[in-house]
Amino acid sequence: MTECRAIGRGRNGKWNHKMERCLITGAAGGIGARLRRLLKGVYPVLRLSDRVRPADLAPDEEFVAADLTDPAAVERAVAGTQGIIHLGGVSSERPWDEILPANIIGTSNLFEAARKAGVERVVFASTNHVIGFYPRRRRLGTAAIPRPDSRYAVSKVFGEALGALYADKYGLRVLAIRIGNVNDKPIDERRLSIWIKPEDLVQLIRIGLEHPDLHYEVVYGASANIRGWWDNETAYRLGYRPTGESERWSAEALAAQDKLPPDPIGGRLQGGDFCSIEYAGDPGRNEI
Ligand SMILES: NC(=O)c1ccc[n+]([C@@H]2O[C@H](COP(=O)([O-])OP(=O)(O)OC[C@H]3O[C@@H](n4cnc5c(N)ncnc54)[C@H](O)[C@@H]3O)[C@@H](O)[C@H]2O)c1
Repeated sequence: MTECRAIGRGRNGKWNHKMERCLITGAAGGIGARLRRLLKGVYPVLRLSDRVRPADLAPDEEFVAADLTDPAAVERAVAGTQGIIHLGGVSSERPWDEILPANIIGTSNLFEAARKAGVERVVFASTNHVIGFYPRRRRLGTAAIPRPDSRYAVSKVFGEALGALYADKYGLRVLAIRIGNVNDKPIDERRLSIWIKPEDLVQLIRIGLEHPDLHYEVVYGASANIRGWWDNETAYRLGYRPTGESERWSAEALAAQDKLPPDPIGGRLQGGDFCSIEYAGDPGRNEI
């Protein structure tokens, strides 16, 4: 069933692939809503899945309801697909009893269903928060040791590790994208460094689903922001050419920042206020 056989770039400069049906988990969420629009027509069928039905589902959209914690439901959602964009799960800091089922068990169910169904590719929505406890002055590549700033980020470190395991042991092709912040524009000072234009995220996702030489890679999901903190060399090597640049909104974003309460911990760390939540650490030892 592994029809997704990328065989290099065709005459139009695009990679050839046989991606007939591509699954988006978490399709009812914020990024899912954007991808439904931006990926329309790119692959013959976009299958959408979530535990809740998107309110504005169109008649030509394919939807399979599945809670990620239910392995049989996940297998039904995955069946017949060649590539998966895994967005589903808890997307901010929450107690363990919410993170564990959705992000740890759910992501494990997803990769296992992909392996069993012979799916060739998984794009995993990781997060910048996996390196959230690094100070903002540090320029990081993707080989940086994780310094997660939340239980949520720990679950994404787990997802990245699962991706590596399923690539190395079972031959899936996996791209983990440490997404910064997806929005139409950056809305504060931190977002000037980590913002990604939705169309740039689509570029990265398509690299994950189509690049012929992909095995397992981690990239940063950020546009070409001059205030950026990350060395995204891996993404550029794979052909990423971001078109977004946050600086044009800097005056607006900095004015919005001035209205926010000061955050002496998060304000100096890459993860921002995710670091400050429940913070009882030693700022000296956190290189703040
Ligand atoms: N939005 C960003 O800027 C950003 C930044 C970094 C990482 N991410 C990651 O990208 C992904 C999508 O982000 P988003 O902003 O669209 O999040 P979102 O919260 O808007 O959407 C997540 C979706 O997952 C679904 N979901 C949650 N638990 C589920 C379960 N047990 N079974 C099935 N579906 C479940 C929810 O119903 C929701 O529709 C998330 O994994 C998030 O961690 C997003």
